[in-house]
Amino acid sequence: TDAFTYDPGFTSTASCESALTFIDGDKGVLLHRGYPIDQLASQSNFVEVCHLLLRGELPTAEQYAAFENSVTMHTMLHSQFDRFFEGFRRDAHPMAIMVGTVGALSAFYHDSLDIHDPVQRNISAIRLIAKMPTIAARAYKYHVGQPFVSPRNDLSYSENFLRMCFAVPAEDYEVNPVLAKAMDRIFILHADHEQNASTSTVRLAGSSGANPFACIAAGIACLWGPSHGGANEEALNMLKEIGTPDKIPEFIQGVKDKKYKLMGFGHRVYKNYDPRAKVMQESAHEVLKAVGDPNDPLLQVAMELEKVALNDEYFIERKLFPNVDFYSGITLSAMGFPTTMFTVLFSLARTVGWIAQWQEMMEDPSQKIGRPRQLYTGPTTRDYTPIEKRG
Ligand code: CMC
Repeated sequence: TDAFTYDPGFTSTASCESALTFIDGDKGVLLHRGYPIDQLASQSNFVEVCHLLLRGELPTAEQYAAFENSVTMHTMLHSQFDRFFEGFRRDAHPMAIMVGTVGALSAFYHDSLDIHDPVQRNISAIRLIAKMPTIAARAYKYHVGQPFVSPRNDLSYSENFLRMCFAVPAEDYEVNPVLAKAMDRIFILHADHEQNASTSTVRLAGSSGANPFACIAAGIACLWGPSHGGANEEALNMLKEIGTPDKIPEFIQGVKDKKYKLMGFGHRVYKNYDPRAKVMQESAHEVLKAVGDPNDPLLQVAMELEKVALNDEYFIERKLFPNVDFYSGITLSAMGFPTTMFTVLFSLARTVGWIAQWQEMMEDPSQKIGRPRQLYTGPTTRDYTPIEKRG
C-alpha cells in the first residue's frame, strides 16, 4: 500500500490531460481554449461558447449559423417523455427530476448510439445542449404546477429558455432583453470549470464506456450537493435566514465558531478571487436595476455581508472570497426563479462542459478506465468464527 500516494479530495492529482479550460487559482484566471472568461461573458454568447468548447475554436459566421441550427433542430422531447415527468411527486425537487429524466434520455438513445463513432458522439453532444433547456423548463413548470410551454426555435437559446419557464400558454409573453442577456451570461460563466467534482464524475462514469446521457445524469447528481452546484441555493437560503443586516455580526461569529460555513464564499482552486464572481456581480446589479427592488433586504444583507467578510481576519487569512454562486443566487431570485431551480440552471449550463470533456476523453488514446486505489485501514487476515463462538 505504501506505493500509493494518499490524496483525499484529489487536491494534487491530475486525472487527465485537457485542452479545454485553464485555471490559475492564485491569479484569478479562467480561460476557455485560451479566451479569458470576462471577454467571453461580455462579448460572446452561450451557443458560441458551446462551439468553442466542443470544436476548439470560435466559429466563423457560417459555422455559427450551422451550429446554432443543429442545436435548434434538437430542442423537442419525444412525447413518451411526458410520462417521466408525470411519475414524479408534484412537490419533487427539480434536481431530482433532472437526474431522473436526463438519465432516461439514455433509454431513447442507446441502441442507436455507437460511442466509438465521432459523428455519433457529436450528435449526442448537440442533443444534450439542445434538450437541456426544454427538460429544465419542464421540470420548473411541473414543480410550479403550470402547463408546459413548447420551445420556440426563432428565439435565441436564452430567450427561448426564459419563455419556456415564464410564459403561460395562450398569454402574451415578451422576453425582457436585460434578463435574456443576464441568463446567457450565467450560462457562459458556468459552462466549464476543468476537473471539478461533477466533471470528474462524468469522466469517471464515461471511462467505463457508459452511455453519455447516463454519464451526464451522474454529473447532475454530483452537482446537486451543497458544496458544489447546490451552493447558490444554500447561499440565498442563508441570506434569507440572516434576514436583516443587523444580524450579520452574530452570524459571522457562528461561522468563526465553525457552526456553519458562509455559503457562496471560498473555493478549492481560487485563492485570490473568482473571476466569474466579478462578472456576476455586475450582472446582478444590471438585473436588479431592471427588475429588482433596490430596497430588497436580501440584497442589502448580501452587500453588507460581502463588505464585512472581506475585511475580517478570519476570511482574509483563509483567502475566502465571494464565489460565482454568491451573486448568481441573488440575480436568479430577482429574475423570478425559485431557489430550487438554481442548481438546475447550473446543470443546464455545465452540460456543455461535461459533454465536451467526455468527448475529449473518448478521443484520448491514453485514457483508461478510472480506478483509484486506497490506503487500507481495516483488519489484516483473520479466521472466520461460527456465530455461537462470537461475543
Ligand atoms: N465559510 C467559512 N469557512 C470556510 C469556508 C466558508 N465558506 N470555506 C472554507 N472555510 C474554512 C475552512 O473551515 C478551513 O478553516 P480551517 O483552516 O480553520 O480549518 C479553511 O477555510 C480552508 O477550507 P477547506 O475546507 O480546506 O477548503 P476547500 O478547498 O476544501 O473547500 C469549498 C472549498 C468550496 C468546498 C468551501 O470553501 C465551501 O464549502 N464553501 C461554501 C460552499 C460554496 O460556496 N461552494 C461553491 C463553490 S463555487 C461553485 C462550484 O465550483 O461548484
